[in-house]
Amino acid sequence: MALLNVEDYRQEARRLLPRFVFDYLDGGSEDELAVKENRAAFERIRLTPRLLNDVSVRDQGIDWFGRRLPSPIVIAPTGLNGLYRKDGDILLARAAARLGIPFALSTASNNSIEQVANASNGDLWFQLYVMNRDFADQLVDRALVAGFSHLVLTVDVPMGGKRERDERNNFVMPFRFRPKTIADVLCHPRWLWNVGRHGAPAMANLATATITDPNTQAALLSRKMDASFDWDDLKRLRDRWPRRLLVKGLLHSADAERAVALGVDAIVVSNHGGRQLDIVPASISVLPRFSSVNAPLIVDSGIRRGSDIVKAISLGAAAVMIGRAALFGLAVGGEQGVVEVIKILQSEIDRTQALLGAKELIQTASKILTDSE
Ligand SMILES: Cc1cc2nc3c(=O)[nH]c(=O)nc-3n(C[C@H](O)[C@H](O)[C@H](O)COP(=O)(O)O)c2cc1C
Repeated sequence: MALLNVEDYRQEARRLLPRFVFDYLDGGSEDELAVKENRAAFERIRLTPRLLNDVSVRDQGIDWFGRRLPSPIVIAPTGLNGLYRKDGDILLARAAARLGIPFALSTASNNSIEQVANASNGDLWFQLYVMNRDFADQLVDRALVAGFSHLVLTVDVPMGGKRERDERNNFVMPFRFRPKTIADVLCHPRWLWNVGRHGAPAMANLATATITDPNTQAALLSRKMDASFDWDDLKRLRDRWPRRLLVKGLLHSADAERAVALGVDAIVVSNHGGRQLDIVPASISVLPRFSSVNAPLIVDSGIRRGSDIVKAISLGAAAVMIGRAALFGLAVGGEQGVVEVIKILQSEIDRTQALLGAKELIQTASKILTDSE
């Protein structure tokens, strides 16, 4: 079957991955209302074309802190990428480098900060989870030495969301193979060959760390963060990290304003793809309320079409992050699969732009009227 869009890649990933892996990738928290709302909110937005503009040559590039990105797309930080492909983080980083877009490496990655830096020559961002302050400081220093350009502090995980698909599949820490899981794995020979035969992928950033606290690995695996992290700690982090600092996971503009006042460079408006608090609004719905924030905005959660990206830009985002869409590509075709998914999104952006009458993507913000019905 020809894979024409992100949903096709999702279906193919569903076919290729064991159930517990696909559910971890695809699922959300509790009743998955936020997951559904992320899609529903994008689908409700309608854009009205302004025609008779010369759109024979189109540009979807954006300026990001003095750098030109060919598309307004960043690959979002996601943990356990080694579950879909061996060396999944490196494959994502290389795909991003080929496309000239940034890749954000998660604290919960299966390739380490240093491995990814050595294996890719692209723009690398590091996403920080704080389970333990000393360890977080070590990670930040390592990312700096390894040449990562941006630090992304994720703040919407003081505790892990309640992922009931994972609980039902026994995909909870400490992980133990049960008969049902073994049967599931045996039914997916391609995955077994590529991933399963190497055993459970390790939390690579911990393996090379010089931490003495034995609880940190367990905390990261079960997403038990340091829930006491607050504004003072953010200020401390700002002082420690000299390059671009982003805060990811805000849904209230007042929090964003406070972060920017502390010296944060950009904000990721995100509900974590509906994987944390299930009762939150879609990130795209709250984005217009951030117009008072004096910093570039990235939005994520629910992006499955190039037209969703155009909608995000027209509502005030400078760029978007894509999480699951890139991972479906990784699961289906490794590095090449990620490139293909992003090329589909780029081509959808381009066509949407042409049909809307917007030569430059950035023009959509001022030229296109948004009718939210
Ligand atoms: C499998 C998976 C793992 C994730 N792991 C992390 C993580 O380690 N750190 C983080 O900040 N966000 C994580 N996220 C959230 C993503 O960064 C992003 O906010 C979300 O995927 C965007 O929604 P989308 O998947 O609908 O594009 C994860 C998301 C998924 C799907």
